[in-house]
Amino acid sequence: MTTSIEPAAADLLGLFPPGARVGDDGTLVVGGCRLDDVAEEFGTPAIVVDAGALARRARDYLSAFRSRWPRTDVAFASKSFPCTAVQRVMVANGLHLDVAGGGEILGALKAGADPAALVMHGNAKSDEEIAMALDHGVGLVVVDNFDDIDPLESAARLGTAGGRPQPCLVRVIPGVTASTHASQATGHTGSKFGLSPAQAREAIARIERSPVLRLDGLHTHVGSQLLDVDELAAAVAPIAALGTFDTYDLGGGLGVRYTYGERAPDLDAYADALVGRARELLPAGCRLIVEPGRSMVAAAACTLYRVTTVKRGTVTHVAVDGGMGDNLEVSLTGQRFEAAIATRFGSGGEPVTVVGRHCESGDQLIDRISLPGPAVGDLLAVPVTGAYCFTMSNQYNGARRVPVVFVEDGVARLVVRRDTWADLLARDVDP
Ligand SMILES: Cc1ncc(COP(=O)(O)O)c(C=O)c1O
Repeated sequence: MTTSIEPAAADLLGLFPPGARVGDDGTLVVGGCRLDDVAEEFGTPAIVVDAGALARRARDYLSAFRSRWPRTDVAFASKSFPCTAVQRVMVANGLHLDVAGGGEILGALKAGADPAALVMHGNAKSDEEIAMALDHGVGLVVVDNFDDIDPLESAARLGTAGGRPQPCLVRVIPGVTASTHASQATGHTGSKFGLSPAQAREAIARIERSPVLRLDGLHTHVGSQLLDVDELAAAVAPIAALGTFDTYDLGGGLGVRYTYGERAPDLDAYADALVGRARELLPAGCRLIVEPGRSMVAAAACTLYRVTTVKRGTVTHVAVDGGMGDNLEVSLTGQRFEAAIATRFGSGGEPVTVVGRHCESGDQLIDRISLPGPAVGDLLAVPVTGAYCFTMSNQYNGARRVPVVFVEDGVARLVVRRDTWADLLARDVDP
């Protein structure tokens, strides 16, 4: 049976993975698993992913685009949640993968991706990574700058791409200033990613002259956590103006709802906006690619923490056993999160600030939130942590990096283990 909850708590529940519910005793249940049981079995902090929600989102993405523009590929941006189990869900549901750098190529291959279905990015690719991409037969390499071209040609000349010219895209700065945090904006004229339209013309001409490279088209990416689909669609015109190609990769960037007050566009609104512009400006029958990261994975996960101390003073600090070691989004982008006590689910209570265990005053998880009587030993659940949190998890202050637990149909399974204490010293070669 599911307990009925007050409207504000329903809002809070809406931030947890779709299908999350509150059990009779007030404990939050995700993917059919009680979160207190998950914490007991796998420890805290832990990132808990509803695997069913992830798979449904992947299918919904593909059908939102293919129903409007049949020749679309959805390439999941691996960087947003780079672990084999997540990549495997994407591949199993027909998605391609966007990989940035050699490590993400290896992860994608381990997850069973067809190398031809990989799109490789990087604004500072090493020669080694370029050679790796061609050795493994990566489908598309995105040329970010002029310095990518020589090593690409050299690798292609070695015949590592099987004697075929290597398909490429050129990344174009669209000149769109997005309404997002500065660290997440990539489409403005001063961006470090890609080439201005004038420079892109030169790169296009160089690649078109190359006997060992094949220019398939253009790439662009406006930024991340964009809540206005018109800003995302605004990138189509600048690339359309550069000519007629087979492929246009429109990047990722769709924002998600992190807090009660926020509203994020749904997939239909997003696909309508991009495909609408494509119908107006791009050649009929061209191949479209979109590269969602955050909006694919963020809402399918939450992070579990144990409260380790409650310090009441001018401010009540509720400290947990994680923090910026498993969630850098707060300090990097100022992102606000919400939280609930997983075994006394509900909103309201006393105003507190949730802080982490790291030696930085900036290590705050949530500034000013109401929690119902927080106490040492409580289990805190922070929703919408599927994007970029695992990605940037680290060992600051000797923290053991977080595990990832998949929950589905009442079964919880570990897909990434927590660092061991020995892992913390594993790379230290000084005797
Ligand atoms: C080239 C490229 N594509 C796709 C993405 C994914 O963006 P998002 O996670 O906002 O969807 C990124 C992330 O910054 C990116 O750099």
